[in-house]
Amino acid sequence: MPQVKRREKASEEVEEPIGNEEGIEPSAAPVTTVTQPQSYDVEEIEGVGRVTAQKLRESGYNTALDVAYAGVKELEEILGSEDRARQIIAAAQRLVGLNNFVTALEVYERKRNVQYITTGVKALDELLGGGIETRAITELAGEFGSGKTNFCHQLSVMVQLPEDKGGLKGRALFIDTENTFRPERIVQIAKYRGLDPKEALKNIFYARAYNSDHQMLIIDEAKKIIPKENIRLIVVDSLVAHFRSEYPGRENLAERQQKLNHHIAQLLKLADIYNAAVVVTNQVIAQPDMFFGNPLKPAGGNVIAHGATYRIWLRKGKENIRVARILDSPMHPESEATFKITEEGLIDGEPQ
Ligand code: GTP
Ligand code: MG
Repeated sequence: MPQVKRREKASEEVEEPIGNEEGIEPSAAPVTTVTQPQSYDVEEIEGVGRVTAQKLRESGYNTALDVAYAGVKELEEILGSEDRARQIIAAAQRLVGLNNFVTALEVYERKRNVQYITTGVKALDELLGGGIETRAITELAGEFGSGKTNFCHQLSVMVQLPEDKGGLKGRALFIDTENTFRPERIVQIAKYRGLDPKEALKNIFYARAYNSDHQMLIIDEAKKIIPKENIRLIVVDSLVAHFRSEYPGRENLAERQQKLNHHIAQLLKLADIYNAAVVVTNQVIAQPDMFFGNPLKPAGGNVIAHGATYRIWLRKGKENIRVARILDSPMHPESEATFKITEEGLIDGEPQ
């Protein structure tokens, strides 16, 4: 995979209380290796005894790294005191070696840590500079039937491939808000990509989100399983549908955007801490004759302005042909990639 340098976007940190509800269906699959940075148990943090450790674990903080990245308000909720929260976060940061100031070399090393998941479509990988990037949010935007959900299914399989085939030998977490996840589709794609379909299914953790609050709780819960289960791809299909239907109209716009911002910030945080790729979908209301022009309206508002790092526009071509374009691509500002949606998933297709 070519490691092409790409545009950086600052991540926004939001500190808010965490939720505690179960939202993720456990998998029967065996636990695999943890690929993430050196992991210390919460009990190894200075000043954390057995009782505090238990409280932290119950709220989803399993490692010192989780605590080191936590917000004071989050931990205050759990520990009952702001001072204690600050003290424990600081101790966790010392333990994992998290400093507010890092050298440029460390920044450089961190960027080199970014990995790519192949899309399975050569032209698209080229357009993306290697594939879907970890430590970033990629938004798939497009009108109905443009292939967003198919794309998500495809990536949930591709992430499982070994690195020499463009994957990360990792698992996927699929958060489905519209009940459009199709295991049969995973079976078809896995077979085509040379994976055992049953294994491929076992490597995808599935969570159905019933409303926007539930969707956010699932993300809070997710940090419990991401490192343990070697999850390297988090899909939210669709990111905005619940928010849109629950907060309709102008009068609710501010509240909706505030919640969505928080949700996106949480996703970006997970992507960054666990070196995972986050892929979200956003439906677009297309205006006739002006697909890439200004009148095109992302249904969920401009998610990219609120933290998504990359946006892939998808549009329908003839029959099963689909065209992808990258917004603000620093490498190929004008180019598009064509692919086909078939029984086997997304495959290379001729330009129209
Ligand atoms: P919305 O969620 O409604 O916004 O659409 P989407 O962008 O998620 O589209 P989705 O990925 O569901 O794409 C649906 C399209 O994929 C259908 O219109 C079909 O043309 C195509 N498709 C889905 N499954 C298959 C398949 O097994 N074979 C073929 N050839 N095409 C398929
Ligand atoms: Mg869909």
